[in-house]
Amino acid sequence: MPYEVKTDADFAPLRNDLLIRAARGEETERAPAWVMRQAGRYLPEFMELRKSHTFFECCQTPALSAELTLQPIRRYSGLIDAAIIFCDILVVPQAMGLVVEMTPGPYLPEPINTPADMDRLTKDVDINETLGYVFEAITLTRQQLKGEVPLIGFCGAPFTLFSYMVEGGGTKTFQKSKSWLFKWPKETAELLDRIAVVCADLLVGQVKAGAQMVQIFDSWAGELTPYHFTTFALPPLLKISSLFRSKLTALGITPPPIILFAKGANSSLELLSKSGAFDVLALDWCITAEEAKVITGGRVALQGNADPLCLYGGKEGIEEEVKRVCAGFIGEGKGPKGWISNLGHGITPQVLPEDMKWYLECVKKYSSRKE
Ligand code: CP3
Repeated sequence: MPYEVKTDADFAPLRNDLLIRAARGEETERAPAWVMRQAGRYLPEFMELRKSHTFFECCQTPALSAELTLQPIRRYSGLIDAAIIFCDILVVPQAMGLVVEMTPGPYLPEPINTPADMDRLTKDVDINETLGYVFEAITLTRQQLKGEVPLIGFCGAPFTLFSYMVEGGGTKTFQKSKSWLFKWPKETAELLDRIAVVCADLLVGQVKAGAQMVQIFDSWAGELTPYHFTTFALPPLLKISSLFRSKLTALGITPPPIILFAKGANSSLELLSKSGAFDVLALDWCITAEEAKVITGGRVALQGNADPLCLYGGKEGIEEEVKRVCAGFIGEGKGPKGWISNLGHGITPQVLPEDMKWYLECVKKYSSRKE
């Protein structure tokens, strides 16, 4: 099915552009705030809707995806500065022909065990045919947002997706992923490259449908040595960025900012900031703002990086952590510059919605520009 390209003129004007300005490295009157996994299991309204729909039904039904995307925006209106589309990184392996179930964690019954299994993957994935529902969800959500906050599209990074595809689900040991890397380096690179092409098309499709920024989630980057990150994970990430920018430019669309979250890959931050491929680098909680600013030298905007588990610290604990992080990013300045407030990883399921609200209130208080 062909999809019409949407432009800003098709939607209500954006009333809160803090996120976009911060991603461009500009000063903002306060730090834009959003939280990875903000639409999900800690929200009772999400749990309610999940009772009557499977997880992938929620992803695949644009009206449900839009509703779930909007839930945190409604609940935290005025405190939250971005929406992220309700979907999952594992829709890419599905588009490539693999079965993915949520049981309740991801389960792929027929993983890619050896290079010969790569033949089972679809060649030349038709992105509109396989993932058109994501694009419909984006357009519908952007309409329903009515310009309140920008909408972020996303995809998983090739190495993270590769590990799910070869392990058959989550893993603590990465035994199969590492076997691939060390036994079949050439085939590993080939598979990563094939995944990158689908990821790029998914991101391009999301922007064509109305996404105003995109994030790439490399949740397992930290499992690699810096050498293997550079050798295996980085080339397909660079490929996503260059395909994303060139394909959108060819369509006459200005490519929106790309956020890369390479969790645990802090020793590659300098390289990533110098690559020019990413506008924003999202930080996990294992590096201070001060260090990250020095390493990245103002070449990129930064996102992060409160400890996600501070949300279990009660009002005082949350406030202290937010204060610390805000002070780190703002430094000697009067207010934030090129900084997007977020957690260092996703919000976890047992967090109380009112604690998330308090967290957002604290971000607003401690990141606001002084006079
Ligand atoms: O940020 C958002 O709220 C948007 C939606 C979103 C989901 N998953 C919904 C989801 C996003 C951005 C993701 C990304 C994702 N998915 C990542 C990268 C981010 C990260 O946390 O590292 C990863 C590794 C996945 C894979 C995945 N999906 C796992 C490991 C699980 C199970 C464990 C868990 O955290 O819930 C999922 C399921 C999932 N994805 C749920 C949601 C709301 C819960 C599923 C349910 O309702 O049963």
